[in-house]
Amino acid sequence: MDKVKIFAPATVANVGSGFDILGFALEAPGDIIEMKKTPEKGIVISEVISEKPLSTELRKNTAGMALLKMYESKDIPFGIELKITKGVNPGSGTGSSAASAAGAVFALNQLLDDKFSEMDLVDFAMDGEIVASGARHADNVAPSILGGFTLVRQNEPLDVVKIPTPEKLYVVVLHPEIEIKTSDSRAILKSQISLSTAVKQWGNVAGLISGLFTNDYKLIGRSLEDYVVVPTRSLLIPMYDQFKESAMINGALGFSISGSGPSMFAMCEGKDNAESVKNALVKTIEQTNLLYNIHISKVSKEGCKMM
Ligand code: HSE
Repeated sequence: MDKVKIFAPATVANVGSGFDILGFALEAPGDIIEMKKTPEKGIVISEVISEKPLSTELRKNTAGMALLKMYESKDIPFGIELKITKGVNPGSGTGSSAASAAGAVFALNQLLDDKFSEMDLVDFAMDGEIVASGARHADNVAPSILGGFTLVRQNEPLDVVKIPTPEKLYVVVLHPEIEIKTSDSRAILKSQISLSTAVKQWGNVAGLISGLFTNDYKLIGRSLEDYVVVPTRSLLIPMYDQFKESAMINGALGFSISGSGPSMFAMCEGKDNAESVKNALVKTIEQTNLLYNIHISKVSKEGCKMM
């Protein structure tokens, strides 16, 4: 194989209570990575098609950074050239930086006939996250590569676990068009929490995992509650509490911030439930001057894939 075209899905990280450890893949949107072998060694990003300008310089691009790490880890006997078409809005909180990095390492692995394991690919893609947020976290890149729900049990050495995805889980993603940089929304977080907060939090993380294994939708919903980062980060999102209230009174299982925001997500059981939650959120945001986009997606069992 001399060239590949890959779809890399957007993701929702944290999933409420699982800051930096939980995430899931969406069916759409996603980034498209087109990669081909070149005779001259090295990596070239020939083009990035994106609404917001993004660098083609390797060390300033999340895909470039992840690929550099992968390329330098083995003697790869060819060069590569890639084009990135962004489908995931940079700065939206739905894993934009991760999708490009995940798609890029997945693409190179196809050109190498699957030389690397999925865990290796997640590890390489985490280097891309440093460009975006200054931190090596895997909660977006893991679900983008593996699909479904993933749990990052440990970063060093990396240990990622796949969690089952209940069939009827739908997500409404609301993206108000305000800018929140991941690095800023990480910088405002408290570095310590009390023992009583930790106890409540790990109760919810465990409840969420249990609900995903047993298809207990109500348990999934009530376990999304986060006591650690959402109380601080929600202050950066205008009307966060009103959005949450309108989703919950219209039957959402749970509601939280997607990744570092500003996108928010409502977890729903079935498509009809997702449609009514979406309508309620539209009504609420239409009362503001905020520009926005909103969409419904199933939680996708598939991660990066060939197109
Ligand atoms: N876990 C990361 C954070 C995800 O919340 O900062 C960034 O999208």
